[in-house]
Amino acid sequence: MSSNRVVIFDTTLRDGEQSPGASMTRDEKLRIAKSLERLRVDVIEAGFAMASQGDFESVRAIASTIKDSTVCSLSRALDNDIDRAAEALKPAASGRIHTFIATSPIHMQYKLQMEPEKVIEQSVHAVKRARNQCADVEFSCEDAGRSELDFLCRIIEKAIDAGARTINIPDTVGYALPHEFGDTIRQLLERIPNADKAIFSVHCHNDLGLAVANSLAAVVNGARQVECTINGLGERAGNASLEEFVMGLRTRKDSLGLSTGIQTEHIVPASKLVSSITGFPVQPNKAIVGANAFAHESGIHQDGVLKHRETYEIIKAEDVGWNTNKMVLGKLSGRNAFKTRMEELGIGFDSKEELDSTFKKFKALADKKREIYDEDLQALVSDSRTDI
Ligand code: KIV
Ligand code: ZN
Repeated sequence: MSSNRVVIFDTTLRDGEQSPGASMTRDEKLRIAKSLERLRVDVIEAGFAMASQGDFESVRAIASTIKDSTVCSLSRALDNDIDRAAEALKPAASGRIHTFIATSPIHMQYKLQMEPEKVIEQSVHAVKRARNQCADVEFSCEDAGRSELDFLCRIIEKAIDAGARTINIPDTVGYALPHEFGDTIRQLLERIPNADKAIFSVHCHNDLGLAVANSLAAVVNGARQVECTINGLGERAGNASLEEFVMGLRTRKDSLGLSTGIQTEHIVPASKLVSSITGFPVQPNKAIVGANAFAHESGIHQDGVLKHRETYEIIKAEDVGWNTNKMVLGKLSGRNAFKTRMEELGIGFDSKEELDSTFKKFKALADKKREIYDEDLQALVSDSRTDI
């Protein structure tokens, strides 16, 4: 894999499912996993095998079915969790155990109630146990965003020595700011002597709305795996959104020089599938996958786009799986968009006067109605023509 290729690790089926109310059945997870495989996601985190019998079966079913993506199960740094993950992943063409432990002072003191040295010891043991059952092991330092850098350097060096091939740096509570998170990644890569033996990954939460910005800052500073979810689903305010991160990298390739293997034309169908299965609607103004992401309403914008799409579009709607961009006719729309839509409906005007008077009627109607549909336009014309 070239050094400018960023691995996309999708955790919609694990962290995404941690959104309150987003729980999924085995068959629903399988349908989403197939759609992620179609997108050419590199790694699919299918669930947390130890969490329940249902999740074990989901991971196993996905591991048996998916051939083109690595299938991963989460596990705490505990023997039973690791063994359960390994068992669920047995049928996988390519499987990964993802084991984690908290490394921030607040988590070690209050949640784990463990001394930092014991946390290191348990991590090394967990990574070795996972490696004995699976060649591909990822180790995560939970709450790395609030962990001490020196401690992260020590524990990560030992986890790599124990056999972890991906090291994940989660900003578990979405606390980091892009410039400092990028700097953390850069320092870890510079200071850990065996850092070149592993791919560094990030897993950013969106509590401050910065998950994608932090992920971008991380790859600029050397991270080469990003953990994300479709529609930004995930615990609390969610995770970095796959579609925003991937399109950020692709749209700004000239500046960033990085790429992913994602087949972007499958993004919108994947987003719609996740939304319909979880029952979580996508907000209309959501970047890339929101219904308004490629819709133009103001007359000035519509006129610009009709003359040259790139005046107001940095991405082609078709490139992410929409049929086309959209001109929404409303009170802000201009004559050019109105005339174009009328022509699309097969309605021409014999004179400038006829166009002007119908456009005037359209504006009067648009002042009363939020959106004007094709049927309204047709009615407008039959009314005007009867008037004449
Ligand atoms: O947010 C987090 O820290 C996680 C880990 C388990 C990777 O989801
Ligand atoms: Zn998480």
